[in-house]
Amino acid sequence: MNADPLRDWFDRAGVRVDPRRVLADEMDGGKVLFPARLIPYLDHELLAGLADEARTALVARHAYHYFAFTAHFETRVVNRAAEMLANGRVDAPLRRDVRLDAFKIYCDEAYHALYSFDVVRQLESASRVEALPYDFTPFLNRLDDISSGAMPHRGTLPQLLQVVVFETLVTTLLAELPNDPDVVGLVRETVRDHARDEGRHHVFFSHLFREVWSGLDSAARRETARCLPRLIGHSLRPDLRPARANLAAAGLTPTQVEDVVRDVYPPESVRRTTRDQAVQSVRLFRSCGVLDLPEGLDAFHEEGLL
Ligand SMILES: [Fe+2]
Ligand SMILES: [Fe+2]
Repeated sequence: MNADPLRDWFDRAGVRVDPRRVLADEMDGGKVLFPARLIPYLDHELLAGLADEARTALVARHAYHYFAFTAHFETRVVNRAAEMLANGRVDAPLRRDVRLDAFKIYCDEAYHALYSFDVVRQLESASRVEALPYDFTPFLNRLDDISSGAMPHRGTLPQLLQVVVFETLVTTLLAELPNDPDVVGLVRETVRDHARDEGRHHVFFSHLFREVWSGLDSAARRETARCLPRLIGHSLRPDLRPARANLAAAGLTPTQVEDVVRDVYPPESVRRTTRDQAVQSVRLFRSCGVLDLPEGLDAFHEEGLL
């Protein structure tokens, strides 16, 4: 594992070297804004009679949600913690150069948010499908409830853990979407740019977790062990609010929306997908000894991650 993944940041980071990605003239060439296989409800029988235009709008709004979520998450969750690390405001003893790295990450994430917003704007004007209003706050509140609820007196630790979890999850979307030839270049290139930066962040936050964990006393370790799997679960479970809103915008009645949600997100398959996506994070936490604590083992089991 690269000991200093951000060493070449000035010459390699996306915000330093990537061009602005611009939508080429490919909307009429059969390219899609998002891969159909990553939109679980698209093939549901209640949507079978949808006109092409309405189907395109459904796909567009799914893509918008992905990028809107990214923009909010980077600015409101990752950079909340990156700022604390950068300004030396965390109460964990950390090596000296963590602060400079955290400033680099802060810039990266701000740029990821900017281009996510830029992509939505470009796609909206080319497709003439408007984005639905998106409220990130319920997701954020739940994330905060999980972590602060598990450790109300641990200062900045809950917010650090949120970011460690999210930044060490490697979603298949980041890995697969850039190579999907059916997707418009703007979306593929943007996700590819993002995945490159996130590869470096993954290494940084894996190191950071080892450092933080080794400095915790045993009570804080137990609380952390209980909290981590819940954060993983919340980060990976599909957010059903935007899915419901998208289905309603496609003309489904409230009852039909619930039918679709029930059919395409059955609890057992959500659990299986969550477990598959969490493999790398679970490996990291296991290697640090989190699952050696009975509290950790139980909590990871309860969340269905083992
Ligand atoms: Fe990012
Ligand atoms: Fe990141």
